[in-house]
Amino acid sequence: MKKLLFPGLLCAALLCAGPLAAAEPVEIIDIHTDDVSLLLAAAPDQAVSVLHFGGRITDPAPLKEYRSGRWPDYGTENLIYPTMGERNFREPALRVTHADGDLNTELRYVSHESRTLADANVTQTVVRMSDCVQALDVELRFTAYARENVISTHAVIRNREKGPVMLHSFYSSALPLEAESYLLTHLYGAWTREAQVDHTLLTHGTKSIQSTREVRTTHTENPAFLLTLGSRTFSEEYGEVVAGALAWSGNFRLNFEIDDSDVLNILAGANPFGSEYRLAKGESFTTPEMIYTHSYRGAGGASRNLHDWARNYGIWHGDTYAPTLLNSWEGAYFDFDARTLTAMIDDAAAMGLEMFVLDDGWFGNKYPRNDSRAGLGDWEVNRAKLPEGIDYIASYAHEKGLKFGIWIEPEMVNPNSELAHKHPDWVVRTPKRDAPQTRTQWLLDLSNPAVQDFVFGVFDRTMQLSDKIDYIKWDANRNANNVGSAWLPADEQSHFWIDYAQGFYKVMERIRAKYPDVLIQACASGGGRVEYGALRYFNEVWTSDNTEALSRARIQYGTSLFYPASVMGSHVSIVPNHQSGNITPIKFRFDMACAGRLGMELQPKQMTDQEKDFARQAIANYKEYRDLVMHGDLYRLGSPYDESGCYGLMYVAKDRRRAVLFTYCLRYQGRTQIPKFRLQGLDPETEYCIRELNVDKPRFWFDGKTFRGELLREAGINPQLSRLYDSGVFLLEAR
Ligand code: GLA
Repeated sequence: MKKLLFPGLLCAALLCAGPLAAAEPVEIIDIHTDDVSLLLAAAPDQAVSVLHFGGRITDPAPLKEYRSGRWPDYGTENLIYPTMGERNFREPALRVTHADGDLNTELRYVSHESRTLADANVTQTVVRMSDCVQALDVELRFTAYARENVISTHAVIRNREKGPVMLHSFYSSALPLEAESYLLTHLYGAWTREAQVDHTLLTHGTKSIQSTREVRTTHTENPAFLLTLGSRTFSEEYGEVVAGALAWSGNFRLNFEIDDSDVLNILAGANPFGSEYRLAKGESFTTPEMIYTHSYRGAGGASRNLHDWARNYGIWHGDTYAPTLLNSWEGAYFDFDARTLTAMIDDAAAMGLEMFVLDDGWFGNKYPRNDSRAGLGDWEVNRAKLPEGIDYIASYAHEKGLKFGIWIEPEMVNPNSELAHKHPDWVVRTPKRDAPQTRTQWLLDLSNPAVQDFVFGVFDRTMQLSDKIDYIKWDANRNANNVGSAWLPADEQSHFWIDYAQGFYKVMERIRAKYPDVLIQACASGGGRVEYGALRYFNEVWTSDNTEALSRARIQYGTSLFYPASVMGSHVSIVPNHQSGNITPIKFRFDMACAGRLGMELQPKQMTDQEKDFARQAIANYKEYRDLVMHGDLYRLGSPYDESGCYGLMYVAKDRRRAVLFTYCLRYQGRTQIPKFRLQGLDPETEYCIRELNVDKPRFWFDGKTFRGELLREAGINPQLSRLYDSGVFLLEAR
């Protein structure tokens, strides 16, 4: 006879009442910011459901009487954390196998509490639920940021059962939305083509966005999205928009499911893909943080909320930013000595740049790093190239008034390295298979604490090379595939995906405890790790290896939907461009790069004197308005995808006294088309004087004139950008 699987079933059935049976006293859990409410309905021993997520409802009490009208046994209630269980047919946020083999989970409300933190802008609400028969608890923790109109959330899953519980799906959050239509905007791409924008009208069924690459998760999809509700058209300034961004540097999944009630259920979290996680008795699992915002001011409003939140809470020292810089990569690649570098520093100083960054190629002796095939892992200064050491270069930079930065890629190893020979067990691989190489390198197993110590040590020892290191560029140039860990037990290999990302965070915690002030750039062949999990520890990201200005228009536009310009490394490089071969004017290249954190990445010796003069002027101008780019409110004027080929963006000071406007012509439009930019975000009553920068003489009729904000909003300005790669940067200052 088969063993009785669920001896407690009979009494469990009695215990598990349906969600929100009418007789129960309902309590409203009111989570809100200045303009946004998330309202949950809870009653003792009942499921917790979502009543509302959207604009603020200041007096939600009458909603206590609210009944969805749906039949609870149809499985269509808007549960706040749907599980695989009898009353949910949607993709579950939580799917587990309990210690006794039970596949179902039915979470019931236990308690909740809210408290305002020392920072009075922030309120935390904890909602506690337990399975009605199994000793499994889920805590949902919500953090509401009042001024930024952001509500973030994660789950803590606790196993009090008699044995291990297997977690199959463990999303950070579920959010049901109800609207006439759902227009999803998200990013896709590839190396050098990151952050491209897709708009898609969701239909019934499921659409997922995910990464299964672990290290460079954001090259392709990005764990962030915008949803335009009730309209089939994407709008910058109008309409209801919900935006979300997951703070997680490992595999992620965003799942959008419209069910038979026309409800859109969003699931967001670590990707369940191959990631079964065994939770031992007494252990807890904490999911990554999911960040949401809501706006009635279109995509622009949602982006500005996220940017404000990011600068105030989401980015390491988000109120600071990296200085303008010259990076050695495209200028010198692996081929340099101290004279090459000091000459580059001289040129950088002469152009007014503020930092020099020594990129790849400075390390490895037995296996010198002269190309990408050797040396990764052996982090001693290459004596042949730099017998003077790093401190000599860093000191030289400091003497010239520049800060100094240096490149590392500590998570990786070349097979041709002393490290690979010494620690083959540190490489991500399965014992019976070859470890696949990408860019002739292997991935180190960050789930292993010894590797975590090593990676921390690489950072730490690099910092000891000179006391004048101000900035680290942290690279990671491959994905994880064919994964296997010599550290993890055979029956926990599927923990790799979670443990790698958490191992990375453990290292970053130690680094930030010891080096709070060093600036760190996240880079992963360019546009990897552009997400809020990494940004908790990093100051900025290398937006893309594609430095070509035309491509950058789309890459920076897409990135700006979710991430502020202060994290967007944007460099001017040489022409023909090393990636695309395209030739664009130096002004266009500067005008594009100046819309982010400006840098240069070329050999200045290859510039003409005229180009150097232009660079000097553009860099000086940038310093004049940089505070706006870094801390202002972003207004996108159209998009680089527009048929017109014209695109603009502006950053407006919080007090609306100053603004900088960038305009570009990305496509030749003939003689008849004169682009018009209707300016946003200005005070309608204020008079603004417009001055064009990065030109030697006035070009347009409005240059130097003063206009009211109202006129600039309604009639706009019409710089005659009719030639391909024409561009204009305008400073607006209140009179
Ligand atoms: C990656 C980065 C580049 C550069 C090289 C060095 O491709 O994205 O910026 O640092 O590695 O090898």
